[in-house]
Amino acid sequence: MTYQIYPRSFADADGDGTGDLAGITSRLEYLADLGVDAIWLSPFYPSPQSDYGYDVVDNRDVDPLFGSLSDAEHLLERAHQVGLRVIIDLIPNHTSSAHPWFAEALAAGPGSAERDRYIFRDGRGPDGDEPPTNWRSVFGSGAWTRVEDGQWYLHMFDQEEPDLNWRNPEVAEEFRSVLRFWLDRGVDGFRVDVAHGLMKDLRDQKVPEGYSPNSDPAVMYDAGVEDDPMWDRPEVHDVYRDWHKIVAAYPGDRMLLAEAWTQWPADLRGYLRTDEFDQAFNFLWLQSKWSAVEFTEAIMSTLQALEPSRAWPTWVLSNHDAVRHRTRYGDGPQALARARAATLTMLALPGSAYLYQGEELGLPHVELPPEHQQDPWAKGGNGRDGCRVPLPWSGDAPPFGFSPGDQQPWLPQPVQWADLTVAAQTGRPGSTLEFYRAALAARRRYARGAGGEVRFLDAPDGVIAFRRGRLSVFLNCGTAPTPLPDGDVVICSGERPVSDLAPDDAVWILTG
Ligand code: BGC
Repeated sequence: MTYQIYPRSFADADGDGTGDLAGITSRLEYLADLGVDAIWLSPFYPSPQSDYGYDVVDNRDVDPLFGSLSDAEHLLERAHQVGLRVIIDLIPNHTSSAHPWFAEALAAGPGSAERDRYIFRDGRGPDGDEPPTNWRSVFGSGAWTRVEDGQWYLHMFDQEEPDLNWRNPEVAEEFRSVLRFWLDRGVDGFRVDVAHGLMKDLRDQKVPEGYSPNSDPAVMYDAGVEDDPMWDRPEVHDVYRDWHKIVAAYPGDRMLLAEAWTQWPADLRGYLRTDEFDQAFNFLWLQSKWSAVEFTEAIMSTLQALEPSRAWPTWVLSNHDAVRHRTRYGDGPQALARARAATLTMLALPGSAYLYQGEELGLPHVELPPEHQQDPWAKGGNGRDGCRVPLPWSGDAPPFGFSPGDQQPWLPQPVQWADLTVAAQTGRPGSTLEFYRAALAARRRYARGAGGEVRFLDAPDGVIAFRRGRLSVFLNCGTAPTPLPDGDVVICSGERPVSDLAPDDAVWILTG
């Protein structure tokens, strides 16, 4: 089970209101005690922070905002001492526009070797003032920006994140060296950002009639576009075969994890060949509504898609790009009950589960006032800021122990979080934190070795029921209580059921 840390918002040791590596190191025991096996750190590299660190200026260093390289080394050492593996984010699709390479590309001009590290093209139309293709960036604007000398550069995300040219051998060599830099320092793996995006075919995207670009931050591909020139091009796999060899040459069990959005679950198989990634995120559950039909479909299609490759499935309900699952499932106490039930069901599935910081506290997505909204994905909208509000650790008022003293965090925390702090929930029977601790312990004991096969059981409408070995799992997305079989209740997401499972609850039962 891997726990995602968004460094800006996890814990602030130096008191500037932004989380940092020393803050993470100071809380590693908390994570070990929670029952986490590994942590994945979102980027901490030097960056102007236009896309909060996904715009990188130097892939081999740490932004002073987050500390220093020796803080990163110390974090790795301490994490390993407490039994946690460490996966770091790697961002090969683009750099920041403040990267020295981009300055060199602008200065050297059209046709230069410096410009060829990025994707610069002349525009279309008599004066070249139309972009080279009709592509839209994921962040909503056109994907091309014109520079002073008249050429255009490609950015699949923010304008300040120019895309690298992966057909240039110098780019490939640079990232080989970056991989080795961090592997030499002991990282256990890489989460590869936008792994499906590195190679592009520079031709217009043929969009279906009535198509409008995606505006959902939780979805990162162009649904319904056939033979998409922007995403998931076959040549991308050569890059990962190369990286696999580099990673495999290091001692220990190092891993590559893809953030690869594909139109169909079966397309993920391409990334999971034995000589490419070890795991790839599967976002189907995160994209499903609170619905037994959608959840069942997410589980079945994932398992069916991966079956032929025998690849390890992954499951995730929340991350730094999506509305927190507690809020996706509604309002009030019912939403929290549902979030816990969905988590418990996910934790019973074979493969790897990924948790996002703060879900163990039952944090909701926060509606931030307009003056605090910062996400470039949705300038002026509520974007992804609401799932990035700093964690509440202790105390009765913001900053809730996130920063020492009274320093307020970079995004404001709701005052109502006093009841959701780690300190308030620790040892409190029924708290979401204690539920997560128990669920992770139960997963280690009953679900990890339960055999891979998931067998669906007959269940009334609105209810999901499946078995793995002796473990039977029930999730009630319906509106009426549902009867349970005899057996020992291992764990439940709500009140311990007597003979019926209440709506919005899930339970694990050991049967004969
Ligand atoms: C990350 C986003 C980021 C984007 C551009 C995504 O995969 O998860 O947070 O904005 O890539 O790097």
